[in-house]
Amino acid sequence: MAKLWGGRFEGQADALVEALGQSVSLDARLAPWDIRGSIAHARMLGTCGIIPRRDAQKIIAGLNQIAKDIADGAFVFEPALEDVHTNIESALVKRIGDAGKRLHTGRSRNDQIALDVRLWLRDQIDAVLAQLRALQRALLDMAEAHIGVILPGCTHLQHAQPVLLAHHLLAYVEMLERDYERFSQVQARVNVLPLGSAALAGTPYPIDREMVARELGFPRVSRNSMDAVADRDHLIEFCAGAALCMMHLSRWCEELILWSTPEYGFIEIGDAFTTGSSIMPQKKNPDVAELVRGKTGRVYGSLLTLLTIMKGLPLTYNRDLQEDKEPLFDASDTLQLCLAVLTRMTPEIAVHAGRMQEAAREGFMEATDIADYLAARGLPFREAHEIVGKMVRYCIEQGKRLPDLTPGEFGRFSPLFQRDVLKQLTLHGIVSKRNQAGGTAPARVRTALRKARRFIDKTGK
Ligand code: ARG
Repeated sequence: MAKLWGGRFEGQADALVEALGQSVSLDARLAPWDIRGSIAHARMLGTCGIIPRRDAQKIIAGLNQIAKDIADGAFVFEPALEDVHTNIESALVKRIGDAGKRLHTGRSRNDQIALDVRLWLRDQIDAVLAQLRALQRALLDMAEAHIGVILPGCTHLQHAQPVLLAHHLLAYVEMLERDYERFSQVQARVNVLPLGSAALAGTPYPIDREMVARELGFPRVSRNSMDAVADRDHLIEFCAGAALCMMHLSRWCEELILWSTPEYGFIEIGDAFTTGSSIMPQKKNPDVAELVRGKTGRVYGSLLTLLTIMKGLPLTYNRDLQEDKEPLFDASDTLQLCLAVLTRMTPEIAVHAGRMQEAAREGFMEATDIADYLAARGLPFREAHEIVGKMVRYCIEQGKRLPDLTPGEFGRFSPLFQRDVLKQLTLHGIVSKRNQAGGTAPARVRTALRKARRFIDKTGK
């Protein structure tokens, strides 16, 4: 097999080396960004008089043509040409001749790939930020549509205290808000121009890096050429952000899966987002939620792959770095697909408010409030806790709920109980009392919803 860059070689490459070394089957998708970077580089080379202006113009026209062919699907990428960079450069030389051979002046594939990935990742992060906002909006819509609905709040998956469904949903809006912040912070570190670092040490050509940075919209240029070609921190940070975000989505999906079982019966997910069974005609399975939960593992895998690739690499570029694309692309594609599908599924979730409310009456969730009632009348909380524990045991024995107890029965457990105790034990009453900042009281939750909506609209992409 003919060798690329074969000037110094006598021998041919082994046939397996292409299979091992080609990356174009993956990195061809970087072509539009690769071409943008090359156009900026060529324009700068021409402006700075490093190559003839006419050649720069020819290069730019040729690259635009290639970009069009790629967009039309009329461009054939060849694995023998290894990667996206060499495929495009050799197509350019074929089309415009010798001028094309001047494009690679003052740069290396090492700073070129570093640039391509930064340009690509910047766009992916913009897309992810917009998708996060869209999912937050869908959750806010759901919360607003069911503002009065109460369901059991759980710890240990056991009924703990009643909460508003809207409060529960706002918890996910918060998680997604942290994801939004994290990706915005990664974006700031992605947004640095590495081009001009050349192979590793910089270049002797009188290039104008600031000009390239301006054309490509980078607020600054990298400060150290060795770091710039060897750094993959931003890929790892992106995958870490993606892993965290997927973890949030996975937790939400786990709840949706539980809630749609007949045992819970809290929700029904619409037909477009559920599937049947090949053998059991009655089934309606929450596959979408399960797949998102399952794909979370893939994204964790990508993060670990990248960390492992990097841990033993000496400065600067090593070919191992070519292996960074597959996990990065996969993490980004998976995250974006999952965010998109959940955003579309959310309005298709029917809430069975009656079932939620009914469930909230089970499990003695009034217990804390009865203990608080006694504590408010002077009993130390620990003693109140003990008394109410006995009341719960009594209820279990009698097959009663706490609010079913008569004033006489209350009186048997403590003389501090007055008639008003029962009035305080409605679900609505219990929820309404949690009215400190961050609590589930309806007034608090309505304010939280309004604030979240305003903030998201103000900062939405
Ligand atoms: N395809 C390579 C990569 O993705 C581009 C850089 C190649 N540089 C090199 N010195 N072989 O990492």
